[in-house]
Order: sequence, then structure tokens, then C-alpha cells
Amino acid sequence: MGKVVVVGSINVDMVFTSDIRPKAGETVMGNTFQLVPGGKGANQAVAAAKLGAETYMVGCVGNDSNGDFSIKNLQEANVKTEAIEVVENVPTGVANIVVAEKDNSIIVIAGANFEVSKELIDKNIELIKSADMVLLQLEIPMEVVEYTLEICKNNNVKVMLNPAPGMVLSSTIIENASYITPNEHELKIIFGPSSDASEVLKKYPNKLIVTLGSKGAMYYDGNQIKTVPTYDVEVVDTTGAGDTFCGGLAAALVRGDSLEDAIKFANKAASMTVTKLGAQGGMPTLEELMGRA
Ligand code: ATP
Ligand code: RIB
Repeated sequence: MGKVVVVGSINVDMVFTSDIRPKAGETVMGNTFQLVPGGKGANQAVAAAKLGAETYMVGCVGNDSNGDFSIKNLQEANVKTEAIEVVENVPTGVANIVVAEKDNSIIVIAGANFEVSKELIDKNIELIKSADMVLLQLEIPMEVVEYTLEICKNNNVKVMLNPAPGMVLSSTIIENASYITPNEHELKIIFGPSSDASEVLKKYPNKLIVTLGSKGAMYYDGNQIKTVPTYDVEVVDTTGAGDTFCGGLAAALVRGDSLEDAIKFANKAASMTVTKLGAQGGMPTLEELMGRA
């Protein structure tokens, strides 16, 4: 069992389901409401832990009921939470998620996630140095992402960067990451709107893995571009699909799977997530995943 350290965001998701997505200025009646654990960092940590990795979370929550709820949820999923800092006077991050017309729209309020600092990284430096894989996303300050990548690079620790939400990345960030996992939309933000996915992939063999929703994921193995298909499932909510993919990919890589096998594993896990409501609602355990044909 390998060790995964996630440095990232922790949110509580307010999930509204509705038949119709309201247009600007419009009010619609919805169907259901749920308050569920979320945040790209926490989601990836839960996915990695459920899929068998020894997983640690480095992040911040507010001193409030959402923070307690988030930490308890991580612990229930077997994620080690000692490196989560509870900060005063800033609320835990929240996300407003509308699931309608077979897709989601999300607004995130960072709250305590923007309190994740270089000092917090320094405080947990030994944990980070001991990781087989560090997982990063972009819901914490960019300077902390850059700093963590630099530390990992200097200490030969592998890092997977999930560049979400989509933002422009510096060449140093791209260079220092061992794996980068954008979706097709994020790929265009990073490498330009007219960039050709195949050409970009060829520049980053066995490093850039582009997720393709219902079509799976693709990467360049040094010889050819490979598309690894995912499973045909009944989609309820795709929220957390990318996070499950990243957590699953990390869990498989740290236990020694090849990149292609790790992508197959990640696809399988992510395809199970989309069959249930909520980012973590359908995330499988290793046993559940193994039991699936
Ligand atoms: P998210 O909805 O979490 O933002 P994303 O946009 O980051 O997801 P996607 O490329 O949409 O990332 O999906 C990530 C992975 O989830 C895919 O590579 C695939 O394995 C799985 N997945 C997503 N959508 C579907 C689907 N409709 N059917 C089966 N698997 C899916
Ligand atoms: O990737 C899904 C996550 O994005 C949600 O859980 C929400 O909190 C936002 O961070």
C-alpha cells in the first residue's frame, strides 16, 4: 500500500437538483436538496483512501459545523486528518451545485481553503517528503501549489496536478508536475483554445492524461496516443468524476500499476461515481470496484 498526500480544498456542497437549469433572472422550482461533503482535494483524498491508498489530507477548514462535518467525513473514509488546520474567523469552503439537464454548474466560495499557506506546507514537510504521490488541485492559492511542487521536485516526490478549476499554468508548474490530469476544457485553458490535443499530448509522454468524460481518457505512451475507454453507465450526476479519476489513478500508481492499468482502474472508479448523486456519493471502495464486471 503506497502513501498519498493530498494538499487541497475541503468544501461542503449544497446540491440542488432540478429538471430545468434557471436562466439569468429566472426562478424555477427544483426537486431535491442535499448538504454533502465535497471540495476537489477532499474528494480526491476520499477516493484514494477508499481505493486502498494510505491517505493524508493537508488543508484548512473554518471553526464551524461545516468544518466538523468535513473532517468527520474524511475520517470515516479512513483519511488521516491530523494535517488539517482549523482556522478562526473564516468559514469552511462551500460549493453551490445545480444538477439539471444531465449536467452540473458549480459556484465555489473558497473560505478557509485560501488560508492554506506555505507555512502549512512547511509544518507538514516531513509528511510531504514521505509521500509516494502528492495530489494537488487549484482551489487553494496558486503560490502554495507552486511552492509544494517545488518542494516535491527538490525531494524527488511524485506529484499529480489536477488543474481544476481551469486556470493558466506557468511553465515551471507544468515542468515540476509528474502527472497533469486536465479535462478537455482545462486542456484548452492551459495550452490555448486552438491547441490540438494530440500535438500537446506528444510533448508530455506518460505525464499528461486528458480525461474525456464518457469517452474515458487519453495519453501518449512515447510511441502512440492511447485512448483508454471507460464504462457505459446510467449517469445520475457527474460531479466528482474527475476527482475520483485522480484519486483512483494515484491509488493505482502508488501500488505499482503501470500507467495504462492505472488509467483503466481510474476510469472504472470514476464511472461508478457518476451513477449516484453527490461528488462522493458513488465513489466505490476497492472491494466494490473489484466486484464490478
Ligand atoms: P467533473 O464532472 O468531476 O468536473 P471532469 O470534467 O473533471 O469531471 P471528465 O473528463 O468529465 O472530468 O470525467 C472524468 C472521468 O470520469 C472520465 O475520464 C471517465 O472515466 C469518468 N466519466 C465521466 N463521465 C462519464 C460518463 N458519462 N460515463 C462513464 N464515465 C464517465
Ligand atoms: O470536483 C467537484 C467539486 O468541485 C465539488 O465537490 C465542489 O466542492 C467543487 O470543489
